[in-house]
Amino acid sequence: MRNEDSSVQATFNNIARRYDLMNKLMTLGSHRRWCREVAIYATGRGGQRFLDLATGTGVIARAVLAQSPDSTVVGADFSESMLNVARAGEGNEGIEWQFADAHELPFEDAEFDGVTHGYLLRNVSDLDRVLNEQFRVLKPGGVVVALESSPPAGILAPFIRTGMRVVIPTLGTVIGRDREAYQYLVGSTLGFLTPEALKLRFEQAGFTDVGVKPKFMGTNMIWTARKPR
Ligand SMILES: C[S@@+](CC[C@H](N)C(=O)[O-])C[C@H]1O[C@@H](n2cnc3c(N)ncnc32)[C@H](O)[C@@H]1O
Repeated sequence: MRNEDSSVQATFNNIARRYDLMNKLMTLGSHRRWCREVAIYATGRGGQRFLDLATGTGVIARAVLAQSPDSTVVGADFSESMLNVARAGEGNEGIEWQFADAHELPFEDAEFDGVTHGYLLRNVSDLDRVLNEQFRVLKPGGVVVALESSPPAGILAPFIRTGMRVVIPTLGTVIGRDREAYQYLVGSTLGFLTPEALKLRFEQAGFTDVGVKPKFMGTNMIWTARKPR
């Protein structure tokens, strides 16, 4: 594993216990609704086996299972502390929790009908490899659906940027008890690719029908993309 990834892994191991509460505050309570929306898109065409990468505390994995109760869902992450919080949650029957690095997935080719993830892409050291791996494990015709943060754009961008730089590390100090981790989260969002650039990377990995739906003044996006048949 590269040094950048080990440091991301350590960051998430440190903040696992308070992550859900912080997420709720940072998204003003919208995170669960967005996760449900991700799950609805991912399961819309049916399917029996789904992978939620960077599952964290498992919110998207549980939402996928709620939409598709007869399927099996694998919730995978490279932070054992996050996975431990996921394992301790309720509504886990039908979910397999598994340690996995998104750069090197321990799954067969064409194993999954759908792949989901929330806030993974801006954290990885090799985005193209991570997208190629998702393409590989998807069945032809399968979808990837991703919730991802996005750098603010448009006339309000300077105000939103300043707000994020002030509010999130403050919440991270008082509630999350780890200012540095939340400074990292803000930095990784502000420094991430524009939607136009990310769309290109999905397409370069082989995906078609790449679509994006902005949320929260464009600071969050829900991405959908398909592996051709
Ligand atoms: C911000 S959390 C998001 C958790 C969850 N998806 C959600 O929406 O609440 C990001 C997660 O990605 C995981 N992660 C980051 N890089 C990863 C990688 N290379 N492989 C697997 N998981 C990774 C972290 O451990 C962390 O649990």
